[in-house]
Amino acid sequence: LVGVTAEPLSLPLGYPVYVGTGLLPEAGAIVAAAAPAHRYAVVSDDTVAALHADTVLASLPSDRTRLFSIPPGESEKTRERWIELTDALFAWGAGRDTTIVALGGGVIGDLAGFVAATFMRGVRVVQVPTTLLAMVDAAVGGKTGVDTRHGKNLVGAFHDPSAVVMATETLATLPPAVFRSGLAEMLKHGIVADSAVFDAVLAALPDIARDGAFSPHLPALVADSVRIKASVVAKDAREGGLRQTLNFGHTIAHAVEHAMAYRMLHGEAVAVGMVVEARIAERLGIAEEGTASLIESALAKAGLPISIPDGLDPMELVAGTHGDKKNRGGSVRYALPSKVGTMWRGDGSWSTVVVDDVAHSALIASSRR
Ligand code: NAD
Ligand code: GLY
Repeated sequence: LVGVTAEPLSLPLGYPVYVGTGLLPEAGAIVAAAAPAHRYAVVSDDTVAALHADTVLASLPSDRTRLFSIPPGESEKTRERWIELTDALFAWGAGRDTTIVALGGGVIGDLAGFVAATFMRGVRVVQVPTTLLAMVDAAVGGKTGVDTRHGKNLVGAFHDPSAVVMATETLATLPPAVFRSGLAEMLKHGIVADSAVFDAVLAALPDIARDGAFSPHLPALVADSVRIKASVVAKDAREGGLRQTLNFGHTIAHAVEHAMAYRMLHGEAVAVGMVVEARIAERLGIAEEGTASLIESALAKAGLPISIPDGLDPMELVAGTHGDKKNRGGSVRYALPSKVGTMWRGDGSWSTVVVDDVAHSALIASSRR
């Protein structure tokens, strides 16, 4: 790419993914090379914009670039914000020759990605994730969308980015809990595809706890996680089969997030969800004994929650899983591990039906006593 010094990762994707410390000032050059446009719309949230937008704006042509910022938080990933952003783009005079730059965590990535997927039937988007979770998961793979009162991510589109810029120095400004929630998805990638990655994240946790965003291990671990995600989405972009494995922990997580009215971080809910779902897998005889406790202890070491939040009723959560869009034909399907590093594949499918009683007993076992 012209004017870009860093090398992208070698991945089986149709777009470059850059990971490195100190990359943010290069964002504009990467955007201009991968998705050149007449106008550049940088979409962010107010927290991220205050910290990092200046660097990105300075790297793009000032007369053809504008910042569009919304309040932070999952509760903003809505159709109402999609309308507002779309209308603001039209009011600015944006047309098909516009590239959207999504600067923020997974909320901004999903929302700005959905604006890009739909604006005049689709314009290009470059993802510039600023949370660990968005780097290792949300920014790669092309899922975009918004939440509805019926559940998370229920309205959306697949829309691949033209490039992804992971500037790990942006992680230095993250609140510790938000940083840690990304560790949940990194451990998830190890669980679903590669026990060596799980072990590497686990081994690096003390260093990461000490050095945070500047841990020398971080760029390589982010890259490992992205490689796993990329190899899955390259084989199954539309989640016909294998991609379901990336939903490990998410059926319970979505029910927990919904019951918590989205006051819990996504990665924290995924941590709890992985413990519960690993217990489900053990109860069904799908997972090796000890899998759930191995996962639970790794998540606890990462400082992540491992029990369902106080006050949530397991029965209500079971009911909540029925609202999850992964369900087909009225039954609740889960993607489950057979052990750390390997997902279970029974009779040709990567997910299996779980009856409510089993989910309920695993939820009770994961409640604080
Ligand atoms: P988020 O985007 O809400 O970010 C969390 C908080 O961190 C926000 O308050 C934000 O303002 C703040 N923040 C972000 N970057 C910061 C920085 N560098 N410094 C200081 N503060 C910063 O949440 P998230 O955890 O990044 O993402 C969760 C979302 O991602 C969920 O909506 C989830 O559904 C989605 N997701 C999507 C995919 C996908 O494949 N598309 C995958 C996983 C998760
Ligand atoms: N986060 C799961 C997926 O991208 O499929």
